[in-house]
Amino acid sequence: MTLHLGNDIVDLTDPFTVGKAGDARFVRRVFATSEQGWIAASPDPDRALWRLWAAKEAAYKVARKSSPGLIFAHAQFEVLPDESRVVCGKASFPVQWDEQPGWIHCLAVSSSSPPSLALCRCRVDELAPGQEPSEAVRGLATRLLAEAGWAAATIVRPSGQGGARPGAPEVWQAGGRLAHLDLSLSHDGRWVAVAWMDLNNLAISQDVRID
Ligand SMILES: CC(C)(COP(=O)(O)OP(=O)(O)OC[C@H]1O[C@@H](n2cnc3c(N)ncnc32)[C@H](O)[C@@H]1OP(=O)(O)O)[C@@H](O)C(=O)NCCC(=O)NCCS
Repeated sequence: MTLHLGNDIVDLTDPFTVGKAGDARFVRRVFATSEQGWIAASPDPDRALWRLWAAKEAAYKVARKSSPGLIFAHAQFEVLPDESRVVCGKASFPVQWDEQPGWIHCLAVSSSSPPSLALCRCRVDELAPGQEPSEAVRGLATRLLAEAGWAAATIVRPSGQGGARPGAPEVWQAGGRLAHLDLSLSHDGRWVAVAWMDLNNLAISQDVRID
């Protein structure tokens, strides 16, 4: 199988996020029964809800990389918080959360073998006033890649085929795709977040290949 990553950030300073756990219709539509129980049992139900939400979105981004036609239905991605993974059908995505008072970030990968979460690099940054989020997150990504040695890397999103939505962002350099660098971008409200990994750094096991 191919190893991929995905990420998602949620801005907890956005008033929209406050009290969402009390929106019974929303909770029933988006969350499985087990997830609803987990939210209700949490000392901070809103934070618990957005933790699950971020994990579903991050796992969806991973799943879309190997299944480009996949439609997103939040309810089909079930989060097992105590096992730090998201399941969708037969697929299982290990996840890892990082949190601050103002945000939750979730990272997801397509395989637990090799220990791929440990090989991912993530950074969350705050938008400067007036900055456009897509530009800011690309700026952050190119800075991180430059720090790691890819000085002139650019972020490209391939246009979707036949009217489909554009695909996941890719890393390019000098007119060629650096397929060994897997990247995921997310932005929400005040925050932008980048996750990436270099598949060449993995002790590549039998079941991992690069597209
Ligand atoms: C991927 C998706 C869930 C992210 O949405 P979001 O949480 O609102 O936004 P985020 O900020 O976390 O992520 C946005 C970034 O994800 C990346 N992204 C977009 N589509 C992606 C995909 N299919 N796979 C991986 N990454 C993707 C992009 O870089 C995008 O940033 P950009 O627009 O600045 O380039 C959303 O764009 C999407 O495709 N939803 C599915 C739509 C769908 O299936 N609808 C069903 C009804 S028809």
